[in-house]
Amino acid sequence: MALKIIDHGTPEYQKMIKLRDDILRKPLGLGFTSQELDEEKDNMLIGAFEDDTILGCCMLVEENPQIVRLRQMAVLNDLQGKGIGRALMNFAENIARDRGYKILSMHARKNAIGFYEKMGYKVAGDEFTEVTIPHYVMEKKL
Ligand SMILES: CC(C)(COP(=O)(O)OP(=O)(O)OC[C@H]1O[C@@H](n2cnc3c(N)ncnc32)[C@H](O)[C@@H]1OP(=O)(O)O)[C@@H](O)C(=O)NCCC(=O)NCCS
Repeated sequence: MALKIIDHGTPEYQKMIKLRDDILRKPLGLGFTSQELDEEKDNMLIGAFEDDTILGCCMLVEENPQIVRLRQMAVLNDLQGKGIGRALMNFAENIARDRGYKILSMHARKNAIGFYEKMGYKVAGDEFTEVTIPHYVMEKKL
C-alpha cells in the first residue's frame, strides 16, 4: 500500500471523490456540490493506494496557523478494520507536524469515536448534528 498526496482535479482525485461519495455521502442520501469540491483546491488531500485502486482517504484543512482539521476519512467497506485508517491517520499527522500545526481536530461521526480514541484523540464539547448524523469535535496535540 502507498500513502500519497493527491493533486486536486487529477484522475486520483476523481477516485477519491468516488470513494468519499460511496462511503460517506450516498449512505446518507447526500452528495457533493461542485462548489464544495472547488473549495478543496487549497486543502491537503491524502490517499492510500494499492496500484491504481484507492483503498482509503482523508484530507487536512487549515483552521488557523496552529490548528488543522481532518476531514473526509474513509476506507473501502470491505477493507475496514485492517489498519488502513490508522496508516492514513499517522501519515496525516506527520504532514500536519511537518507543516507546523500544533493541534489536529476533527468533527468525528459518533460511530467513529472509538477509532479516533485509539489514535489518541479526545472528545472536546457536546454532540452536534452534521450531514444529518451525530458528531463530536475531537482533538489531539501533535
Ligand atoms: C472509521 C474508519 C476510517 C477507520 O478505518 P479502518 O481502516 O477501518 O480502521 P483501522 O483498521 O486502522 O483501526 C484502527 C483501530 O481502531 C479500531 N476501530 C476502527 N473503526 C472503529 C470504530 N468505528 N469504532 C471503534 N473502533 C474502531 C480498530 O478495531 C483498530 O483497533 P486495534 O488497533 O485495537 O486493532 C473506517 O472504518 C471507515 O471508513 N468507516 C466508515 C466511514 C467513517 O465513519 N468515517 C469517519 C468519518 S468521521
